[in-house]
Amino acid sequence: MKAIVVTDEAAGTAGMTLVERPEPDAALLASLDGASYGDVVVHVHASGFTGNELEWPSTWVDRLGRDRTPSIPGHELAGVVTALGYGTTGLSVGQRVFGLTDWTRDGTLAEYTVVEARNLAPLPSDVDFTVGAGVAMTGLTAWQGLFDHGHLQAGQSVLVHGAAGAVGSMAAQLARQAGAYVIGTGRASGRQTALDFGAQEFVDLENDALEDVGGVDVVFDVIGGDVQKRSAGLVRAGGTLVTVTGPPEARPAEGLAVGFVVVSDRAQLGEIAQRVRDGRVRTNIGQIADLDDAVAAFNPTERIKGKTIIRVHP
Ligand SMILES: NC(=O)c1ccc[n+]([C@@H]2O[C@H](COP(=O)([O-])OP(=O)(O)OC[C@H]3O[C@@H](n4cnc5c(N)ncnc54)[C@H](OP(=O)(O)O)[C@@H]3O)[C@@H](O)[C@H]2O)c1
Repeated sequence: MKAIVVTDEAAGTAGMTLVERPEPDAALLASLDGASYGDVVVHVHASGFTGNELEWPSTWVDRLGRDRTPSIPGHELAGVVTALGYGTTGLSVGQRVFGLTDWTRDGTLAEYTVVEARNLAPLPSDVDFTVGAGVAMTGLTAWQGLFDHGHLQAGQSVLVHGAAGAVGSMAAQLARQAGAYVIGTGRASGRQTALDFGAQEFVDLENDALEDVGGVDVVFDVIGGDVQKRSAGLVRAGGTLVTVTGPPEARPAEGLAVGFVVVSDRAQLGEIAQRVRDGRVRTNIGQIADLDDAVAAFNPTERIKGKTIIRVHP
């Protein structure tokens, strides 16, 4: 099968190469000897890659810290189940699915990938594969950050950093739908996009004073560093600063700080798919490229806004 692999951490996306790799061994998976209990093989139709994935340690080492290169990046997918591992329940061969793959295993920039069934949800027939791949990571991250960790409620206010980006634009939409007041942030060039995705106000982090926002109940941070540190002071008593950039670097004086890594969740994926179907959720896809053109797509000559999705199977 065709797959994108990386071997050199220092090379970044320039080190991505399109190669031939063996397809997953479906017969071995189905047997007890495969030790892949509960896994399924998915024929990848669309794959998503998060911009700084090649900086994540999990791209380079497995859970025991062993070098796992050459590794296949991209952990967001939509596709069709082609084989079931021993002990799999809940999915069937031929089923359309979407979700996230394990960070420490080979990913989805390939024609086939192996995923734990529990990390996948059915993809409705009227949702395009590219859309499914585009909302899996962004939708789950926004959902978990706002509701599971931030405990955002109707009538509360939320500061969504990077609201014109892939995750932030999803957070802005979901927070608005939950009845929250949404203040988006980012660069000046992202203002209209953030407002279009549901932000009611926008703070240009390079020119406006973040402190003028006043108090908020939840901060949803995708930027980190100084922006995160300055945001901690905006969180009201009892509120939460949630970040996806790593362990929190700052803590609100009278609130919580939570750093989390998204997990795949079948029920939440189902809810996100429903919102895509009824038009409440839009994806923020900046470009769609074929697998043959993926390396070039991930090494653009100019900055691409929104998510890059690779259409692996036309
Ligand atoms: N922990 C987790 O589970 C998890 C899950 C998903 C994503 N993430 C992380 O979340 C981050 C965002 O991912 P994404 O896919 O949403 O990226 P993205 O599409 O590039 O979005 C980031 C947004 O923030 C803006 N931004 C970044 N730095 C800024 C700064 N200093 N000042 C003003 N605006 C700034 C960007 O503007 P420009 O485009 O103009 O730069 C963009 O609009 C990544 O670090 C990713 O690894 C973590």
